[in-house]
Amino acid sequence: MKSFSRESKSNKNRREFLKNGMVAAGAATLGTGLLASGAPVLAEQEKERSGKLPKGDAAILRFLAAAEIIETDLWVQYNELGGIQDNEVPGGSGSPLYAAALQVLDGDMNQYIHDNTEDEFTHETFINAYLASKGADAVDLEPFRTLPGSTATGASGKPRLTNLMKLTVDTSWWTRYRSRTQNPNFGDTFPPAVPSLAVGQHPAIPRSDADLSPSNHLQAIANTAGFHFATIEQGGASLYPSLAQRVSSSQVLQIVLSIGGTEAMHFQTWHDKVGNAPTLTDSSDSTLVFPDLNAPPFGEEDFQTNLIMPEPTVFLSRTLPVCSIVRPTETTGAATGALKFLTAMGLFIGQSPAFFAFLRDLAEEADAARREGER
Ligand SMILES: [Fe+2]
Ligand SMILES: [Fe+2]
Repeated sequence: MKSFSRESKSNKNRREFLKNGMVAAGAATLGTGLLASGAPVLAEQEKERSGKLPKGDAAILRFLAAAEIIETDLWVQYNELGGIQDNEVPGGSGSPLYAAALQVLDGDMNQYIHDNTEDEFTHETFINAYLASKGADAVDLEPFRTLPGSTATGASGKPRLTNLMKLTVDTSWWTRYRSRTQNPNFGDTFPPAVPSLAVGQHPAIPRSDADLSPSNHLQAIANTAGFHFATIEQGGASLYPSLAQRVSSSQVLQIVLSIGGTEAMHFQTWHDKVGNAPTLTDSSDSTLVFPDLNAPPFGEEDFQTNLIMPEPTVFLSRTLPVCSIVRPTETTGAATGALKFLTAMGLFIGQSPAFFAFLRDLAEEADAARREGER
């Protein structure tokens, strides 16, 4: 009893951030499944509800819903300042100078930022609505929307879930996708394209109007954003196939495969665009250097900017032929690993201990999911 009441208390806290799936799904789900038996019902009621979904599938979708809410929040901040503000992606009024610096990478950057932002909104909304339609609890991170965002002209000023002003960006995906002999699933590690982004804390949006000049500093911020776009989306491109391997229902598998593919499309676009980021040293931070990736000591196959399609590499076994693949796709600990990756990039600097505890719970429950029959 003692351990039950302790668990009950922590579950109660956690439930504050879960939308009640039963309410959304309607009375039809009441009285079935969840409330079917006697004593275990109490314990079951204290936990997240899976409704008609296999428990592991609901846990995987809840972690993905949280990841999508986080993606939406960061993309909204980019769109407010650097994208297109319209009724599809409302909020903010644009920062012409920041948008112009982004457009050095490609003249259509504002359209791509807008479209990536809209896509994240739909991922978040769809997954939560699907959970609710099955009588499962959905995810709500609104209580954690407490971080101050940019005060630059054009930002909406609304509180944020994520912090884009102190990023440490791991660009090792650049060489990971160019290697023909190594695969992170084999434990291989890869050097970053921009070593100085992997250390320190860097803004990816103008923190205030003071960041709008000198132009070289603003370009460094836009370059950081360009690398961050691809870094985020390659994470999504790996996360979905990693978790798909432990889904049980074919419909949930369809959801995970279908959304995961769009993350890969986003990554491919950003991978191409950021190859156009101009070589420079930030005049406001001489430690931040964007090197020429096509010239020594960079260059050649591991860095050449037009090699944006995944080079074939080892897959599953070194005795099998090489294959062009998304990587990594290791499924063990994939959700916890994704959370660590987002945390290490500084995206949650300023967030509360309750935020980290809630996300850790969602990740651990997703990682505990097993394909039915493979327990
Ligand atoms: Fe997404
Ligand atoms: Fe995404």
